Amino acid sequence: MSRAKTVYRCSECGAEAPKWMGWCTVCEADGTLSEEIVALAARPGRSFAALAPPSVPIPIAEAVGVATQPVATGDDELDRVLGGGLVPGSVTVLGGEPGVGKSTLLLQALASIAEGTAGRGATCLYVTAEESARQVALRADRLGVSSPSLWLVAETSLPHVIAHIDALAPDVVVVDSIQTVHDPELGSAPGSVGQVRGCAQRLVSEAKVRGVSVVLVGHVTKEGGLAGPRVLEHLVDTVLAFDGERHHALRMLRAVKHRFGSTHELGLFEMGEAGLAGVPDPSALFLADRQAGVPGSVVAPVLDGQRPLLVEVQALVVPSNAPTPRRTAQGVDGGRLAQVLAVLDRHADLDLSRAEVHVAVAGGVRVPEPGADMAMALAVASSATGRPLTSDLVTCGEIGLGGELRQVHRTERRLAEAARLGFARAVVPRSAPDAPATMRLHRAGSIAEAIHHQAFQVSAA
Ligand code: TYD
Ligand code: MG
Repeated sequence: MSRAKTVYRCSECGAEAPKWMGWCTVCEADGTLSEEIVALAARPGRSFAALAPPSVPIPIAEAVGVATQPVATGDDELDRVLGGGLVPGSVTVLGGEPGVGKSTLLLQALASIAEGTAGRGATCLYVTAEESARQVALRADRLGVSSPSLWLVAETSLPHVIAHIDALAPDVVVVDSIQTVHDPELGSAPGSVGQVRGCAQRLVSEAKVRGVSVVLVGHVTKEGGLAGPRVLEHLVDTVLAFDGERHHALRMLRAVKHRFGSTHELGLFEMGEAGLAGVPDPSALFLADRQAGVPGSVVAPVLDGQRPLLVEVQALVVPSNAPTPRRTAQGVDGGRLAQVLAVLDRHADLDLSRAEVHVAVAGGVRVPEPGADMAMALAVASSATGRPLTSDLVTCGEIGLGGELRQVHRTERRLAEAARLGFARAVVPRSAPDAPATMRLHRAGSIAEAIHHQAFQVSAA
């Protein structure tokens, strides 16, 4: 009896090695090689070389434009992130933690495409390899999805999936998820690096040949990267990341890689009873429950990608006898907060060594940018002194280690968004550009100057 042929595959980069080694010779990762069985005749490289017809050269002018026209899905937030919609023949991976709403987003998007809300209706196929058809049907029922051009099949075998694509000739196919489909010809176990890579490769070539848009759901690892081989990201055209705080309804969609457009767009959704709803005016949403006139609350116009958002940064400073009083940061970076507190102590005479400091961004938003430094500092100072800031005020700017204020990029765009929502004053670094006509700027050179600016402080009640 002949022994099955095995190779050792790196779980990081997908490279194969003929024998086991402690590290991968291609990407140099440690301990990532694991054994995988391969049927010789079905080695992906060989079978594809034999199956695929030779390509035909065409003048590039014929290809330009035609190939990359996106087709709108009709879901405004998804279309915004995709730069218009799904490009025929492209492959997109949607990654995100379990329960974030990947299946919901794609089922809704397929329904919208199938119903033709964005123009003509198209044939769509939803392949569920994770849940049963009944589970998906229950979700569809909840979402009120019942388009006759949206087809559903529960299938985990890739050759069968491709046979369904052959039979139905859909315009868009969703495979939920790439980790749970498998190709028996590949030999290795479902979910293994070799399977994920092989199945993705096969789907990419099918998408290109047929001009069908394929969307793959991808699981993510604990670190937030896509599970499976690193090459998955290289194989596909677009990688979208879907995330949100577990206890909030807000969901954010971003392009991590996008062959057909920008990776700077942000899509915002709210998960509700009837699925995901787009949030066209996030600033208004984030500020809806704000209580003006409370010490420790400051509004900051921040940028997520290209999208300006107004968020409320809150601070609570309370006395503490603990040797190392607590500091918590929610929605802002803990290291950044520590730095801002150190600057306040050294350059603004605000002694917080005997105080607990909590800083949070309301609404489950994450603000990983330095533009929120000044809001953090003013919120902490306001809470520590018990003096609220005037309610029509916003602030944005970075604080340097010397206590100096620095302008952050696209300040004009941020201030315009604040003015649109009726904010009439802004505290900004000295070098900041002029404000919209309806807004008064208070310029400050240092954080001490900003904090002691009387113009926008309301005296303690
Ligand atoms: P799901 O799309 O199954 O997430 P994923 O595919 O990323 O694992 O959605 C998961 C959560 O969303 C689930 O906990 C229930 C919730 N949900 C709603 O709150 N409202 C809805 O209308 C739907 C369909 C789901
Ligand atoms: Mg799912």
